[in-house]
Amino acid sequence: MSQSCRVLVIGQGGREHAIVRQLLLGRDAPEVFVWPGSDGMFEATAGLRHAAAQRLVGASLIDAVLEQKIDLVVIGPEQPLADGIADQLRAKGVLVFGPSKDGARLESSKIYAKEIMQAAGVLTARSFVVDSVERTLASAREFKPPYVLKADGLAAGKGVFIEKTLAGLEQAARALFEQRVLGDAGARALLEEFSPGYEVSHLVLTNGKTAVALPPARDHKRLLDGDQGPNTGGMGVVAPVSLPEGLLEKIERDIVAPVVSELDRRGILFRGVLYFGLMITSDGPSVLEFNTRFGDPEAQALMPLLDEGRGPTWTEAFMAIAQGEVPRLVWNERRKVACVVMAAEGYPDSPLKGVAIPKLKELNQTTASYVLHAGTEKRGGEYVTNGGRVLNAVGVSERSLDDALARAYDAAESVRWAGCQLRKDIGRTV
Ligand code: AMP
Ligand code: GLY
Repeated sequence: MSQSCRVLVIGQGGREHAIVRQLLLGRDAPEVFVWPGSDGMFEATAGLRHAAAQRLVGASLIDAVLEQKIDLVVIGPEQPLADGIADQLRAKGVLVFGPSKDGARLESSKIYAKEIMQAAGVLTARSFVVDSVERTLASAREFKPPYVLKADGLAAGKGVFIEKTLAGLEQAARALFEQRVLGDAGARALLEEFSPGYEVSHLVLTNGKTAVALPPARDHKRLLDGDQGPNTGGMGVVAPVSLPEGLLEKIERDIVAPVVSELDRRGILFRGVLYFGLMITSDGPSVLEFNTRFGDPEAQALMPLLDEGRGPTWTEAFMAIAQGEVPRLVWNERRKVACVVMAAEGYPDSPLKGVAIPKLKELNQTTASYVLHAGTEKRGGEYVTNGGRVLNAVGVSERSLDDALARAYDAAESVRWAGCQLRKDIGRTV
């Protein structure tokens, strides 16, 4: 399989660049195609061990996959999953790593996700479904501040409001239900009790019946140091994080197993990543959310942790899941990875596009310190900002997390552009 395996990765951000990079570095050297990909991703992968990733071209995705005889499709982002692309490809006989549209609803509807959590009997915050300012304020009487209001639908990291006062909650509810700032995605919402604790991103690969865990990771969701400022898609990740003794086993037993059984019980086709966003509370791990794909930037820190010398490669792992099997993954026990997100000026509200990143050309990329393209574009031979999260600086170390962080920050400093926002405390706060 491996020599000639033709893998397509769907997506164009830092997560997909990380996936493409790691597939290409695998000892089985698959041919990697990307739809749509980005200039930076294609250029950066040209210097890797094997051939560069190639842009998949064709009139439509499905036609191109069939014409190019793609063996395996790996779907990166949530939107194509929510749109049912995995089902369309499977209907044509293509092997896909990514859940069905039904499975993707665990992420594309927070109300449905809550229903699954409750049916599985896992710990999660109490909540009410709300669809008006009045209902929101009436339900809020059941809770103490801060109040958590979550738009039901996909909102690219902008759908969760955490408000310290009723006045703030009212404003958030007006934005969703009256100004319709998120359109239909915010027509209904969950009002949820605030859970104090610290967060862990726990990802598993699953065939919808059993699962294999990835090492736990820690994202930093707020824009500014010290967990201040607005929520973002994620400003930086470290992995693996060390957790109190017995906690991982508890997460597997009390959360992952019952949720996967619930998917199986409902007959949901789920072959891909299931991401448990957890709050570790004084009552134990509580589920905040599900994502039905790799986290971004969690993938950037998790992908390099696989020990392909002692177990399957990523291509083999994705292929196994796509075929309905669960691979035996082996992790590098010594390795630590840090990923620092470099965001555009104005992110998350209105990121400034078209700003030059002049030093990117000069960066000396190594296997221990490199930069991934998350939202860049090449204009007239130079890279410019083209999204909220622009670059991801990654540091890998076999010595310590501090060392991995120092490498990531060195790479970040060497490509920093005017107006770039980055947190200085990634890996330092919980
Ligand atoms: P979500 O998309 O549901 O994970 O929410 C985004 C972020 O909001 C989470 O990563 C948490 O930092 C925060 N959050 C969500 N729900 C709660 C909650 N019930 N209590 C405290 N913080 C929350
Ligand atoms: N980093 C959080 C997410 O991907 O949703």
